[in-house]
Amino acid sequence: MQPKFSRTLVTAALPYANGPIHLGHLAGAYLPADIYVRYLRLKGEDVIFICGSDEHGVPITITAEKEGVTPQQIVDRYHSMNRDSFAKFGMSFDNYSRTSLPIHHQTGQEFFLEFYRQKILVEKSEKQLYCEKDRMFLADRYVEGTCPVCGNKEARGDQCEKCGTWLEQTQLIDPKCKICGTTPVVRETKHWYFPLGRYQKQLEEYVNSKKWKENVRSYVDSWLKEGLEDRAVTRDLHWGIPVPLQGYENKVLYVWFEAVLGYISSTKELSQKKGDPNLWKKYWQVEDPGQANQATRYIAFIGKDNIVFHTLIFPAMLMAWNEGGKSHYVLPDAVPANEFLNFEGKKFSKSRGWGIDLRDFIEVFPSDTLRYALALNLPESRDSDFYWKDFQARVNNELADTLGNFVNRTLQFIQRYYDGKIPARGKLSELDKWVIGEMEEAPKKVGKLFEVFKFRDGVVEAMSLARLANKYFNDSEPWKSRNENPVRCATTVNICAQLARSLAVLLSPVIPFTSEEIWKMLKLDGSASAAGWDSASEMKVDSGKEIGRIKILFTKIEDTTIEEQIKKTASATAPEEEPAAPAVAPIKSQISIDDFRKVDLRVAKVVSCEKVEKSEKLLRIEVQIGPEKRQIVAGISKHYKPEDLVGKNVIVVANLAPAKLMGLESNGMLLAASTEDGKLTVLTTAADIDSGSIVR
Ligand code: 2FM
Ligand code: ZN
Repeated sequence: MQPKFSRTLVTAALPYANGPIHLGHLAGAYLPADIYVRYLRLKGEDVIFICGSDEHGVPITITAEKEGVTPQQIVDRYHSMNRDSFAKFGMSFDNYSRTSLPIHHQTGQEFFLEFYRQKILVEKSEKQLYCEKDRMFLADRYVEGTCPVCGNKEARGDQCEKCGTWLEQTQLIDPKCKICGTTPVVRETKHWYFPLGRYQKQLEEYVNSKKWKENVRSYVDSWLKEGLEDRAVTRDLHWGIPVPLQGYENKVLYVWFEAVLGYISSTKELSQKKGDPNLWKKYWQVEDPGQANQATRYIAFIGKDNIVFHTLIFPAMLMAWNEGGKSHYVLPDAVPANEFLNFEGKKFSKSRGWGIDLRDFIEVFPSDTLRYALALNLPESRDSDFYWKDFQARVNNELADTLGNFVNRTLQFIQRYYDGKIPARGKLSELDKWVIGEMEEAPKKVGKLFEVFKFRDGVVEAMSLARLANKYFNDSEPWKSRNENPVRCATTVNICAQLARSLAVLLSPVIPFTSEEIWKMLKLDGSASAAGWDSASEMKVDSGKEIGRIKILFTKIEDTTIEEQIKKTASATAPEEEPAAPAVAPIKSQISIDDFRKVDLRVAKVVSCEKVEKSEKLLRIEVQIGPEKRQIVAGISKHYKPEDLVGKNVIVVANLAPAKLMGLESNGMLLAASTEDGKLTVLTTAADIDSGSIVR
């Protein structure tokens, strides 16, 4: 049994204000967080939803330098851009703050000083590269040099991306400052460290007391197993939160030390906006630590690259604070991190323009279509893929043909035959009772899945009610019963209206804009998002009530529209490094050995070969199969020149019925391996195998 909590605090990773939000971000953390929060609100729970921009860190300063502007200008640009596209996407944050705000700087410094005063932090000297021209210590990404392991000349200060070796920047051969190109010198610098290792045991107990998703747990376990080490919490940089100590004037707090505290400062900002400055404490702190379980349940939604910070480092920081006894923070109760979403089979890559930004997407397609398609494709336990074709199919077949069609035909029927007023139900048939039963069960089934962060399954479950509703309309044939049995017809139509309302509520966390449209069309009071989750099981649409103006909920996406997007995608360069597993066509259904034996595969020697005139693809190939000579026509001209094949031993299907290709008879088929992205290799054997040999 879940302990009963009085309220829920939900945070979603603070995205860097260093570029636009893309679909990978949404699938990783934001969409699931929003579905969850919207669901809890519908359940009537006390919940707040916190996010904001992460505005510090080295990459932001690098972008600024590249563009010749200040880091502040970069974060201003992307903060507003991301805040706005999130809003259009329907993210229902209670607050979207920024870490460059004074309230956040204060919060970061307060934590640092508290740890400093409690003597938790450890000061260490280390050797680092210093650029005398720029008069600064160089952060890892500001140095480039030759990797001592593989010789790559563009290794970074912390890692060689070519061979993957983690490096100390002083290990680089012939290092160069990336800002000015001169050779830096080695100097001593001091930094403060957070002794993460001291919290190992406490963290293990903490983690063991939680039931986390398997993918999250396995990351956490491997970190714990490796053993936790001290972590520097200051950096030699100018952009960030200044370290509030003498002698540390040129240093800032490490971005990951303070970014996680951004959740707290964002909540503080919300409290100020609401004119209730202490409100944040209600969500973050417990007065009586013994009662911690009865207070706030804190859920931190993130993508998988943020797991260690949210499951170990942030909790350890809160533990350290709590030990000071000043006040007591709640720790994350769950960290439902998702894996990665790939784009058309490959990893999203900002630098190569591979993927699509949220902003561009919602200029072409309604937000709900993206929310729906992503929800059904969330990388909840392993990486998943976004394909344009799949998006189109989901929108056309599921949103338009199932949900949209059901709502539309129900309302049109009411408009046309009942003067726009909901007809009254009569006696229920067995089918009516059954469909009402399904409706009654739906909120429980869907809610159960949402509560354990299985959003994909939850949406599938909700959509299955839409499918069922559509089928119910069909099977009940109201267009026939209208004349033959008017009471029957009215009953069917009334139940369909109830189902439409129920679907609006159930799908409201996923496609909130559409749900409100349905609500308006049914002319119901209030909004779908505030109707109460459990009301989705009830028949709340009163008969005799007039409906509103009918609108088409979803228009189908044309092939040409999708092809345009695919073309745009293809013009970007797919990333080469760390390719995702290649997209593979699904394996066909099983056959028996006897089925396979019907195919006569033989080794054949290519005797001659030429291009087929007027064809881009075809080669005319003469092969020798034992004593017999044959002509085979194969569509491989893009991959092989005729002379490449002559003399080769290939494998052919020898008993394939003849076919005509561009007027030429083909007697058999060459075997070739091809990938989804169009690479092709003809299968060959060693030269010393006799032609005519059987392949099995
Ligand atoms: O990975 C990222 O985009 C980080 N900016 C996430 C930070 S989450 C939290 F710490 F604020
Ligand atoms: Zn320099």
